Amino acid sequence: MKRVVIAAFAAIIMGSAAYADTIKIGVVGPFSGPFALQGKNFKAGIDAYMAMNGTTVGDDTIEVIYRDLPAPDPAQSKALAQELVVKQRVQYLTGFYFTPDAMAVTPILKQANVPLVIMNAATSAIVTKSPFVVRTSFTTWQTSTPIAKVAHDAGVAKVISVVSDYGPGVDAENAFKAAFEKEGGQVVEAIRIPLSTNDFSPIMQRIKDSGAQGVFAFLPSGPTTLGFVKAYSENGLKDAGIKFFAPGDLTQESDLPALGDAALGIQTTFHYAVSHDSPENKAFVEAASKAIGSPAELSFPSVGAFDGMKVIYRMIEATGGEQDAEKAVNAVKGLSWTSPRGPVSIDPESRHITQNIYLREVTKADDGTYYNKEIQTFEKQGDPGLAAAR
Ligand code: PHB
Repeated sequence: MKRVVIAAFAAIIMGSAAYADTIKIGVVGPFSGPFALQGKNFKAGIDAYMAMNGTTVGDDTIEVIYRDLPAPDPAQSKALAQELVVKQRVQYLTGFYFTPDAMAVTPILKQANVPLVIMNAATSAIVTKSPFVVRTSFTTWQTSTPIAKVAHDAGVAKVISVVSDYGPGVDAENAFKAAFEKEGGQVVEAIRIPLSTNDFSPIMQRIKDSGAQGVFAFLPSGPTTLGFVKAYSENGLKDAGIKFFAPGDLTQESDLPALGDAALGIQTTFHYAVSHDSPENKAFVEAASKAIGSPAELSFPSVGAFDGMKVIYRMIEATGGEQDAEKAVNAVKGLSWTSPRGPVSIDPESRHITQNIYLREVTKADDGTYYNKEIQTFEKQGDPGLAAAR
């Protein structure tokens, strides 16, 4: 009798309170300032995932803690990550819109025993900085390589390249140049502009003066891209027939209402369009629209965040809620699933996401709204930038 009572007592303790934990996930992103809409998309993706998949994994309850980092600021990024790990005791770090902010956190992961699941930052080299980095977004090598073929196929032989002068911009420039030259094209001039640039008229003049038939551009999505595409149209380049080639950061859906006809017809290559036609995306857009409040604000960081949560939930499941970064990361190597963007998998070697890249064209729908219409698929693209990053 006594034994039975003890066993029952032990079962109660083991089965419930003592082993049910709260697992904390720390999210760093731009939740205020000029890039706040991008951070809002992180939150929409996270909220959508939790609304569709629950707020518990096994016996554990998931708690998400947000920290605001309005602009690229590596020192502040590291300080926020340290506070999350040491004071808040988060078991996972995630978010990270800008490359320098993600880079700054990689040195602390091993000692903290915490995986970093990157929901946006897109410079190829980040995953090489720590074995505890997994990325569910894209790289600018991945998204800027296919557009070079599109440019060549459009009959364009000479292109001028304009990129923001930091990690993902330099990667985009190199990716486009390598792929375009392989097609037989020529990059006549490569301009790198400071991240802080907001007057694009002088650049537009240089593009005109270069004699190039097309411009390739990468800037991080936000007020920067909106200003650049507007300037391309307002300075007469569009009307002059200078073609525009870019990864999809330049025509994110949330910018399209403000761009209006200025963006119409622009072709970009990217991993995700809000219009992607699949049951998984329909369910995602419904949940994410509810989470963000105004569906016109939905953009690609939401899908990086949604899939980032998928990866973190799998890690929690595989570790039974224990803090073991190595085991967690190993559990998602080779993981494959159908994302709202299409079929994806985590490359076991690089821990970066393999995915389709789509050619899309900014199109006006019957109801007068603008969207990125997918017109071609480049299947199962890995990251061509990894070889150069190592
Ligand atoms: C980055 O800093 O890695 C970054 C930010 C915004 C983008 C793409 C890349 O649209």
